[in-house]
Amino acid sequence: MPDINHMTPDDFRRLGYQMVDRIADYWSTLQHQPGSVPVSSVVIPGEIYAKLPASAPEEGEAWDAILADLDRVVMPGITHWQHPSFFGYFSANNSGPSVLAELFSAGLGVQGMLWATSPAVTEVEMRVMDWLGRAIGLPEAFLFGETPLASSGGGVIQGTASEAALVAMVAARQRATQGGAAGPLVVYTSTQAHSSIAKSAAVAGIAHSTHDPERVRLIDVDNELAMRPDALAREMRADIAAGRVPLLVAATVGTTSTTAVDSIEAIAHELDRLNAPVRPWLHVDAAHAGAALVCPEFRWLSQGVERADSFCFNPHKWLLTNFDCDCFWTRDRAALVSAMSITPEYLRNAASSAGVIDYRDWQVPLGRRFRSLKLWFVLRHYGLEGLRAYIREHVRLAAAFEALVRADDRFEVVTRRTMNLVCIALRAAPGESLDHTNARTKALHRTLNASGTMLVTHTVLPNGRYVIRFAISGTYTREEHVVGAWNVVMRQADQLSA
Ligand SMILES: Cc1ncc(COP(=O)(O)O)c(C=O)c1O
Repeated sequence: MPDINHMTPDDFRRLGYQMVDRIADYWSTLQHQPGSVPVSSVVIPGEIYAKLPASAPEEGEAWDAILADLDRVVMPGITHWQHPSFFGYFSANNSGPSVLAELFSAGLGVQGMLWATSPAVTEVEMRVMDWLGRAIGLPEAFLFGETPLASSGGGVIQGTASEAALVAMVAARQRATQGGAAGPLVVYTSTQAHSSIAKSAAVAGIAHSTHDPERVRLIDVDNELAMRPDALAREMRADIAAGRVPLLVAATVGTTSTTAVDSIEAIAHELDRLNAPVRPWLHVDAAHAGAALVCPEFRWLSQGVERADSFCFNPHKWLLTNFDCDCFWTRDRAALVSAMSITPEYLRNAASSAGVIDYRDWQVPLGRRFRSLKLWFVLRHYGLEGLRAYIREHVRLAAAFEALVRADDRFEVVTRRTMNLVCIALRAAPGESLDHTNARTKALHRTLNASGTMLVTHTVLPNGRYVIRFAISGTYTREEHVVGAWNVVMRQADQLSA
């Protein structure tokens, strides 16, 4: 036996405790001394790359040397997504129970591609997907229930909402072609939808590129930036008249730019009235906002979901579960499985032949990690009441932040706050051009991030307005961070106008 430098279980134990200490210290600093950590990395492109040698070491290195490079090489290039004043994009929550479950999953090192390759990976995931589906108010048709092999729906963990959109499209195509649909396929989503919808259509070969307006129709939105069902209906009817096949409508609950909410109900109504030979698949992308559905008072967001074919959201955004974890449910799993299933000889086994759930047939890759473990830990550690309290606190903080902005007449809250995102801009001075107001808001945005005290990102509304987004959903974000951020905004605005 050659001398292989395996870590012994005892070394792993000792070094593992040290690593957990390091993570706990990091979280403690973020929570108790956030001012000591600039939120955004300030390295320049290529800086980290240049610190690393061109080739891997020939000889194994000392553990201390490896760890030292975490501080020397890695940490300067880290933007602190878990910082309580990270308000950019949508957050990427993590939490203690989630990270510990991930560690255990990595320690087990199992592959859950088939039921037979580790039955617990599949069956815990099935139960947890039912738990979460019920918790967000999905109808039973989307769940496995007590006779999972007899049900027609069910949920699965995908890596991302982008993959969820892709598998929804592939399932939709399967159903359409099996139903006899013939002709060029067309996908519909709003101008405000996430780019993953157009990208999925391109990856699936439905569109010829990521910008293919003939195959992916971007439907107009109303004043609240929600898809206009009448415009959708018009486009679909015109396509049918021209011999094309409306394949899938992707409704967004909580758009990335502004958390606008498409009406699932109104869109489903148009699909029913369409009278197409095969009803287009209705996919709901609630990547960020889906987490809010654990609270009954936010169920209005998904009104009509019982008429959708699939629904997804990302607990890795706002539900305390670290990346990656997108939960995807469909009530027509037969369409999905028949589109995705392919069984080479080396995967044949008795359990599959007997009809168990094999999650490889629900996703693009074959292999799959034990991702449900972290979700299971999160649901059990916090409980649904704990998760509701968590969501409600962020919404309360967002409302408080909105009130602060509204009380200062130099600023405007530019879009309706539906939950935890507040979009703000400097108010136009009398007679000021849009370009000039935008330039002032952009300058403010730059100085906020340069201050190191927070990270905020922007969007541009259909009317050309440049806005700064405050997404309040950090695991450790408390009132003091939100109020502190507002004080910095006011100070920087003072300085800019001086
Ligand atoms: C509404 C919406 N859909 C899809 C996505 C893409 O998510 P993912 O990174 O999981 O593919 C996002 C990301 O922010 C989003 O906000």
